[in-house]
Amino acid sequence: LSLEQTLDRAELRELKGIPLTTATYSIWDQVWKFKARPDDLLISTYAKAGTTWTQEIVDMIQQNGDVEKCRRATTYRRHPFLEWYIPEPSSLRYSGLELAEAMPSPRTMKTHLPVQLVPPSFWEQNCKIIYVARNPKDSLVSYYHFHRMNKAMPEPGTWEEFMEKFMTGKVLWGSWYDHVKGWWKAKDKHRILYLFYEDMKENPKQEIQKILKFLEKDLTEDVLNKILHNTSFEVMKENPMANYTKDFPGVMDHSLFPFMRKGVVSDWKNYFTVAQNKKFDEDYKKKMADTSLVFRTEL
Ligand code: A3P
Repeated sequence: LSLEQTLDRAELRELKGIPLTTATYSIWDQVWKFKARPDDLLISTYAKAGTTWTQEIVDMIQQNGDVEKCRRATTYRRHPFLEWYIPEPSSLRYSGLELAEAMPSPRTMKTHLPVQLVPPSFWEQNCKIIYVARNPKDSLVSYYHFHRMNKAMPEPGTWEEFMEKFMTGKVLWGSWYDHVKGWWKAKDKHRILYLFYEDMKENPKQEIQKILKFLEKDLTEDVLNKILHNTSFEVMKENPMANYTKDFPGVMDHSLFPFMRKGVVSDWKNYFTVAQNKKFDEDYKKKMADTSLVFRTEL
């Protein structure tokens, strides 16, 4: 049997109104009881917002620009993906919780959980959190392609159908709108650095400097430039430890769409029809009427 035949597309089950995979759902008690440590760093995003990119930047900062150290393992193993759980097949087994528990401090972890589902110990321990948000149209396009190439994700349906699911929050990790708004609110009460994918594209150096400051790190201009280079889309696309070509053999079909797909702002223009765009914008206005959060859909 090929792996493709042994790993079915994920089924979703709602937890407090948020669709999660049935595997995550099955271990939810343990996720909720997760013991954060005060020096933990959490990288949080709605899926496809530039998580992997941010993880690479953070790791390069923590390793003082040492490229070899950053290649010690894949992104997926370097930073435990907290709620992610694949019990079988054994070749794909993954438990973010087990990985995190076995990891010496200081730990950096990843999550896609909406703010209300983050294990309470992160707040109790006053952990630092980096949140990255990406405009909804590009997030939607990226998420759609990710569902197509990643056979462990639920069946996306047609583009039209997926857009509907995205707008109604009937996708893995729930409503994009609630996610970005929830975290935006939380940043006023907690140690959260809230970043935008579009800003990172426009001025990566400036955004890396924000992360440096948040992590209370100081690096030389040379190291900063090295980080800038090694976390560019072009370099990360070719980096087997960052491009997800090693982690999911037979599950991610990089020949269909690579994980490092395009890495740009405004690709949505190639997918939204005029009518879809109008409908999306009208719905967006309603859903985002109660927030000061502003997104850029082009640079
Ligand atoms: P696209 O599908 O639009 O290309 P995540 O890591 O949260 O799953 O996000 C994946 C998205 O971030 C993909 O978007 C991917 O190409 C993009 N990405 C990854 N590394 C990047 C980088 N260094 N610069 C810009 N975009 C990057």
